[in-house]
Amino acid sequence: MIEVRSEDEIRRMERAGEIVARTLEALKEMVAPGVSTMDLEDRAEAVIAEAGGKPAFKGYRGYPAIICSSVNDQVVHGIPSKKRVLREGDIVSIDLGVVYDGFYGDAALTVPVGNVDPEVQRLLDVTKQALAVALPEAREGARVSDIGHAVQSYVESEGFSVVRHFVGHGIGKKLHEEPQVPNFGKPGSGQRLKSGMTLAIEPMVNAGGFDVKVLDDGWTAVTADGSLSAHFEHTVLVTADGGRPLTIKKD
Ligand code: MF3
Ligand code: CO
Repeated sequence: MIEVRSEDEIRRMERAGEIVARTLEALKEMVAPGVSTMDLEDRAEAVIAEAGGKPAFKGYRGYPAIICSSVNDQVVHGIPSKKRVLREGDIVSIDLGVVYDGFYGDAALTVPVGNVDPEVQRLLDVTKQALAVALPEAREGARVSDIGHAVQSYVESEGFSVVRHFVGHGIGKKLHEEPQVPNFGKPGSGQRLKSGMTLAIEPMVNAGGFDVKVLDDGWTAVTADGSLSAHFEHTVLVTADGGRPLTIKKD
C-alpha cells in the first residue's frame, strides 16, 4: 500500500526537504579543486545539526556516512574519504537524506568541479532535465511506470542510458517505502498515483552503457564500462497538477 500524507505530514516533509536542500546548496558552493569528499561530509554534518535535523543515511543498512559522494564513473553510494580529493574537470554526485520530526527528505545533485568538457556538462544537463520531465508524470491518476517511461525516453533520445540496478522509491515515515520507482519501462502499469503520495524520483544516467558493478567496499557503485555517471533526485509530492518537489528552499 502506498501511503497518502495529511496536510500536517506534508508540512513536516517540507521542513525535512528544506534542510536537505539547504545542505546540498552549501555543499555545492564548496565544490572546487582541492576539496575532499570528506570535507563535504563534515560540512553536511554541521549544516544538518544547525537546522535541527538528523542524517538519514548514516547507519542505514550499515552505511558509514551522512552523504553519498560519487565521483566520475561512480554512480551512487560513494563513501566520503579524505583521500578522494576533487580535481578540475571531475564531476561529483552528492546524495543526502535527512529526517526531521519523524519525516524524511532525500535529494541528490551532480556538480562540475571547475571547468568540465561540454559533453560532460551535457550529461549533467540531461540528467537534471530527466528529473524535470518526470515531474508532470507524478500526478493524480497516472501510473508509477509513466514516470520511468518519461525518464528513459528522454535520456535515450539524448544518447545516454538509464541505470536499471537502482530505482527511486516511496518516502515519508521511512527512507524507503512502497512503491519502487524505476527510471525505465513501459507506460501504463504499476499502481495508480493519488494526491498526497510522496516519492523520491532519482534518475541515474550513464554516458555509456547502463550496467553497473559494486566495488569491494560493498557500497560504491560504478559504471561497468568506466563511463561517467550523473544523478539528480527530489522528494516529490504527487498532486493533481504533477509532482511538486519538497526538497527545495522556501525563501
Ligand atoms: N538516495 C539513495 C536512496 O534513496 C541513497 C541511499 S544511501 C544509504 O536509496 F546509505 F542510505 F543506503
Ligand atoms: Co533516494
